[in-house]
Amino acid sequence: MAVSPESAISGTQLWQAESYARNARFVADLASPVVDLLNPRPGERILDLGCGDGALSLSIMARGAELTGIDSSPPLLAAARASGVNAISGDARDLPFTQCFDAVFTNAVLHWILQPDLVIHAVAKALRPGGRFVGEFGGHGNVAAIVTALRAVARRYGLDESEVSPWFFPTPDEYAVRLTAGGFQVDNIELAPRPTPLPTGIEGWLETFRGPFFRLLPDEKRDAIRQEVIDLLKPSLCDSRGNWTADYVRLRFAARLKG
Ligand code: BEZ
Repeated sequence: MAVSPESAISGTQLWQAESYARNARFVADLASPVVDLLNPRPGERILDLGCGDGALSLSIMARGAELTGIDSSPPLLAAARASGVNAISGDARDLPFTQCFDAVFTNAVLHWILQPDLVIHAVAKALRPGGRFVGEFGGHGNVAAIVTALRAVARRYGLDESEVSPWFFPTPDEYAVRLTAGGFQVDNIELAPRPTPLPTGIEGWLETFRGPFFRLLPDEKRDAIRQEVIDLLKPSLCDSRGNWTADYVRLRFAARLKG
């Protein structure tokens, strides 16, 4: 994904609160390990970076933290506010905060932003000295089968492969080097394979997470290309009962701002 200036957390991706809830509620539902790693405490000031519809913000607030959410998607921000989250619109690469937070939390957002060092710098500025940066996102090898199928089909049709996998999926070593260079001490960083059942199958996943790629295709070819991707993926991601499971690999980390 090319991150467009007007949409620096969601990029060119179009997020719709209703379809996100239908196709991707698992993103928040499966995030309790990273909320546990954050270990929010009563009264702590916490920024939820890329809060989306606020599902995880609410679980952090339930533990007594004073939470601010930030996101760039108007429909998701509206959903977060409607559920009681103090959420503002903003750019993860240029946060409007200086030493305001005890912790910055983020889930399933950082793989959308292809300038990771700008995000790390902005988070360091937003934290008080010693503040925590805790999060999870796609790590090296994430959705590898899906990316490979999309690439194969894109190549066959002479399409731009850069539109296929617009994500940042680093190894733990690579991300740790970036965090350290950005002034953090890395306490914990690991890859966690997490096969993820897809409630609306691969079609729902492709609609929610790779919509921009399919919208670029000529109308008359779109359905055939989507079907080829699905046919390629079926042997490895769909079981005999028709249940789809995506090959997610999470990168989970906890770091502390030095100084
Ligand atoms: C993820 O959360 O791992 C993910 C999201 C969108 C595309 C690919 C992966």
